[in-house]
Amino acid sequence: MNILLFGKGGQVGWELQRSLSVLGQVTALDFDSQEHCGDFSNPAGIADTVRALRPDVIVNAAAHTAVDKAESEPDRARLLNATTPGVVAQEAARLGAWLVHYSTDYVFDGSGTRPWVETDAPAPLSVYGRTKLEGEQLIQQSGCRHLILRTSWVYAARGGNFAKTMLRLAQERERLTVIDDQWGAPTGADVLADVTAHAIRHLARKPEDGGLYHCVAGGETTWNSYAKYVVSHARKAQPAIEIKATEIAPVPTSAFPTPAVRPHNSRLDTSKLRATFGLTLPPWQQGVARMLTEIL
Ligand SMILES: NC(=O)c1ccc[n+]([C@@H]2O[C@H](COP(=O)([O-])OP(=O)(O)OC[C@H]3O[C@@H](n4cnc5c(N)ncnc54)[C@H](OP(=O)(O)O)[C@@H]3O)[C@@H](O)[C@H]2O)c1
Repeated sequence: MNILLFGKGGQVGWELQRSLSVLGQVTALDFDSQEHCGDFSNPAGIADTVRALRPDVIVNAAAHTAVDKAESEPDRARLLNATTPGVVAQEAARLGAWLVHYSTDYVFDGSGTRPWVETDAPAPLSVYGRTKLEGEQLIQQSGCRHLILRTSWVYAARGGNFAKTMLRLAQERERLTVIDDQWGAPTGADVLADVTAHAIRHLARKPEDGGLYHCVAGGETTWNSYAKYVVSHARKAQPAIEIKATEIAPVPTSAFPTPAVRPHNSRLDTSKLRATFGLTLPPWQQGVARMLTEIL
């Protein structure tokens, strides 16, 4: 199997380099790759790459993920999140290749408390959410064989993340204030990459199972409870660590105004993915604890 991976240096892309390697020959590209264009701001270059490599499977982990920055550069966000994925999808359709793509809880407006299912109507609140939704739609309209995984609150041991920021702040300050009115599930890039590899194998046997799926870790939390979990786990796992923080106070989203509006309810129902692919999505604490052990 020939696999073309875009966005190899991102959180998910990095883990995909590992998980896809056992499926076949992987060509992994980033925006500055030399031999083939991997720059999503250059849709014609990306189309040339697909035509030259003729992959059986394309996995796209490249995206404009700077949610607040997207508000001030909507054209670039649209190019990276919608236009170029649409071009990749057209090339995949022409080749008969599979396209695996990632989308987000930000396609929803965050109302209510029920976990969103795939058939719920999207209503994005931000440029990021709108461009990611348009990307989904262009892929679906292209007629290519595809798998779109919507996920949320992605973290990885590599690079910066919320848990690392909380750990640093907890060592510097006695009191932290963290939002407690946004609900979701922190999801490890490693789990997403592993689900992707299993799903590709499954789809080779059962192509009719392609489509749109929600894929997040089990359970739910708020950023505030997530921060408390990180700090208490760090205390237990690494007693030598000097935590100053004695309080992680809950505050509403309005306490931290940001250019992009975030959904309050980012819960995603994963029943469809688990039933179709026969997979288990572990509780979010399991992956976060493992990541903390790795970074502490
Ligand atoms: N992170 C989350 O919380 C989250 C939540 C829901 C869904 N998702 C989705 O999950 C997928 C993977 O996200 P992630 O967390 O792995 O994000 P990430 O770490 O930001 O990875 C995105 C990658 O795309 C690269 N990129 C930026 N501009 C590019 C360009 N012009 N051409 C090619 N690549 C470019 C980035 O490079 P640089 O780092 O050098 O800019 C980065 O390596 C995305 O589709 C994202 O929308 C993420």
